[in-house]
Amino acid sequence: MKYKVPVIPGDGIGPEIVAEGQKVAEAAAEKHGFEIEWTTFSLGADHYLETGELVGEDTLKDLSRYRAIYLGSIGDPRVKPGVLEKGVLLAMRFYFDQYVNLRPVKLLEGVWTPLKDKGPKDIDFVVVRENTEDFYIGIGSRARAGRSRAEFEVIRTLYQVKFGLDVDSESDEIAYQIGMISKEGTRRVIKYAFDLATARRKHLSSVDKANVLSDIYGFWREEFEALATEYPEVSTDFNFVDAITMWFVKNPEWFDVVVAPNMFGDIITDLGAMIQGGLGLAPGANINPEGTSMFEPIHGSAPKYKGQNKVNPIATIWAGAMLLEHLGEGEAAEDVVRAIETNIKRGKVRTYDMGGSATTSEVGDDIAAIVLGEI
Ligand code: IPM
Ligand code: MN
Repeated sequence: MKYKVPVIPGDGIGPEIVAEGQKVAEAAAEKHGFEIEWTTFSLGADHYLETGELVGEDTLKDLSRYRAIYLGSIGDPRVKPGVLEKGVLLAMRFYFDQYVNLRPVKLLEGVWTPLKDKGPKDIDFVVVRENTEDFYIGIGSRARAGRSRAEFEVIRTLYQVKFGLDVDSESDEIAYQIGMISKEGTRRVIKYAFDLATARRKHLSSVDKANVLSDIYGFWREEFEALATEYPEVSTDFNFVDAITMWFVKNPEWFDVVVAPNMFGDIITDLGAMIQGGLGLAPGANINPEGTSMFEPIHGSAPKYKGQNKVNPIATIWAGAMLLEHLGEGEAAEDVVRAIETNIKRGKVRTYDMGGSATTSEVGDDIAAIVLGEI
């Protein structure tokens, strides 16, 4: 069996970490008797600065022929913050309609967590982040450019009520951003989370802010409640987003699967990454079950470490394991995660963030050798 996988190394440390992920995935392929044919796509800052293009329609069409993309990281200090992140990363999540952002929060054996008295048995849950709606839809305005009349009239009324002042449509005195969720968009991701919980420990926690942002998140909660009746074997709870940050720290063992709207999911998964040992250890998958999915570490491009062969490749290697699992190579994926665990437990080949002095490629070599049973 041969899988064709496009690779987008991206910016900053992306190329270094993705190379290690490929190395380990190839080791797993060799062991389990399949092949991976990689095709590199050069997207990110260099491509943008050379051509002025973020990601072209042709590239997107090309990529849409594949089931799983392997991504390093996107973002570069030479480009204004947000341009590449929105123009490349979010553009792909939206174009491929990758409505599930799957982020395991799992403390591996031997990893230090800032949570006192908590171990691997306590920190083992998965966040299912909605990935195409909410405040990420990109409708808003900071000044006159791009401001639509209808949107503006709503904001103008609010402004008048609040300050007793009028504001004209070209004013840069106000900024706004619109969040939107849909019934279909909410149902499909919550359904995915219920199915996942069914296959795990049968508990699903919903995140919202239905007490204040009651229109969109009240809607979210209603959809959750409606779907819950179809899954009587899964126990559920509701959490306001502010409160769940507290429970992640105090009682992470309460959680099995957590489903959250896009922006709250973004925020709580950085907290999740930290309790599982740091951003260097947190993988993520952007999934469209019927289309093109994309696998990446949840950290950014860390430009200050670019080219130093210094950062931790484990998040990316783990994302590679999720990619293999998605392609149907579950045993190979398990082997990779086990090899990561062995590397960590042995504690000899670790990058600086885990208290070691090994390089990025030494960690990749070590994990690949463990997969192959060489050491
Ligand atoms: C993430 C990142 C992205 C997001 C940014 C870089 C657009 O923070 O993947 O969590 O907000 O989704
Ligand atoms: Mn984030």
